[in-house]
Amino acid sequence: MTDNRLSIEKSVPGRRGITFRNPLREKAVVSADMRRKTPPRLPEMSEFDAVRHFTKLSTLNYSVDTHFYPLGSCTMKYNPRLNEDAANMKGFTAVHPLAEDEAAQGTLEMLYNLSSRLTELTGMDGITLQPAAGAHSEFTGILTAKAYFMHRGETERTEVIVPDSAHGTNPATASMAGFSTINIASEPDGRLSLDKLKEKLGPKTAVVMLTIPNTLGIFESRIEEIAEAVHKAGALLYMDGANFNALIGLVKPGDMGVDLMHLNMHKTFSAPHGGGGPGAGAIAAKKHLLPHLPMPLIKKENGRFVCDYGDERSAGRVKSFFGNTGVLIKAYAYLLVHSAKETGDIARMAILNANYILAKLKDIYPCCSKEYCMHECVLTPGHDLTEKGIKTLDVAKALLDKGFHAPTIYFPLIVHEALMIEPTETESRETLDEFIKAMREIHEEGLANPEVLKAAPQHQTVKRLDEVTAARKPNIRW
Ligand SMILES: Cc1ncc(COP(=O)(O)O)c(C=O)c1O
Repeated sequence: MTDNRLSIEKSVPGRRGITFRNPLREKAVVSADMRRKTPPRLPEMSEFDAVRHFTKLSTLNYSVDTHFYPLGSCTMKYNPRLNEDAANMKGFTAVHPLAEDEAAQGTLEMLYNLSSRLTELTGMDGITLQPAAGAHSEFTGILTAKAYFMHRGETERTEVIVPDSAHGTNPATASMAGFSTINIASEPDGRLSLDKLKEKLGPKTAVVMLTIPNTLGIFESRIEEIAEAVHKAGALLYMDGANFNALIGLVKPGDMGVDLMHLNMHKTFSAPHGGGGPGAGAIAAKKHLLPHLPMPLIKKENGRFVCDYGDERSAGRVKSFFGNTGVLIKAYAYLLVHSAKETGDIARMAILNANYILAKLKDIYPCCSKEYCMHECVLTPGHDLTEKGIKTLDVAKALLDKGFHAPTIYFPLIVHEALMIEPTETESRETLDEFIKAMREIHEEGLANPEVLKAAPQHQTVKRLDEVTAARKPNIRW
């Protein structure tokens, strides 16, 4: 039987693991009025029970190191251990954040080299590595665009155009930066309509934000015409490049007419997400926007690496020091083991894996698009399942019992009952086949016994939660 008690519930008065002798003469150090009246309420356990308790908790963790994690839009790829070793190198960890440039040449050189490599991959002219995540990069990018228009005196440009196939952080960013957001509905093929865009473009347009590939996993094939129209209106084209895993080494956004874009180190460049993070982002920009990026930018002068603090045209700092440098080291280590030629293979394999899943499942889980996808595919439960009242949530919950993390569900919002699957390039064909088998079994089980599927998961520590109440009125007290 599973023992799900908290450590405090396992507590036995007086039981101890190790007893520490207090090295401080308590009375002399803490004055009487500051001393607690009652002992703290801590679990009293033997050392062995404490080890078992925490080891068991650690096995409840679901991570890329334990299972396939096909979370669409998140690029949950393998995080090479080599990168951790690089980030732990004494030469990086021992540098004082306030060290003079001369005393931090190694770190500055790494940041400079990473910037150069990313600038080359994106086809842009310069980059800041300050942002702490993807959404934070977008915010930085839009602040950079704002500084650009302010400097030009074009203060009437108050609108940001965002198609409904963009990531949700795009319109949120535009609003946070003080712009009004103009939404454009996508065409039936999931792409942006050039005609609809032209109708919305005008003297008030500051930026058009496109997620490429978009949240349907589709490439904006008319990107050059889009860029031309945007520039003709005097606006800037921003690319949400968080999905760059589908493009790396294959195309350069700078060549497609993009003015500024962001990258997510914790997606494309293999740095861990979440608890293994934190994240790191980057904003790459074309020449006309470089003075407006947050400073400092790192430059090479006479063989030494120096910080350039720019001038009043800069959008200002968005993060202390150089951003999340540890994460940036991991991204750089990742790029060091991939030659320029090999980076294209990352994208090719990511695309191949997503299309493999699509091809093997679309007969029972129809896809929102009739064509090939890029690095992720968006499927839905078919009519045969929905007729029996089965929803995307039921499929996702059933996957947990089969040992898989659920894909992203109900996103993108423009697809009814979406199941967004992103396998990444680091999964083997065998793993993909196991996932496909599980999805096909769920389909069969759903047709044969829909009520069981609707009650899934059956074998997890917690079953169906009231997720709305959990989010709106979280009860986080024991
Ligand atoms: C397309 C896209 N844009 C932006 C973001 C936001 O990135 P972050 O979660 O690092 O803030 C994500 C996150 O995965 C994304 O997929």
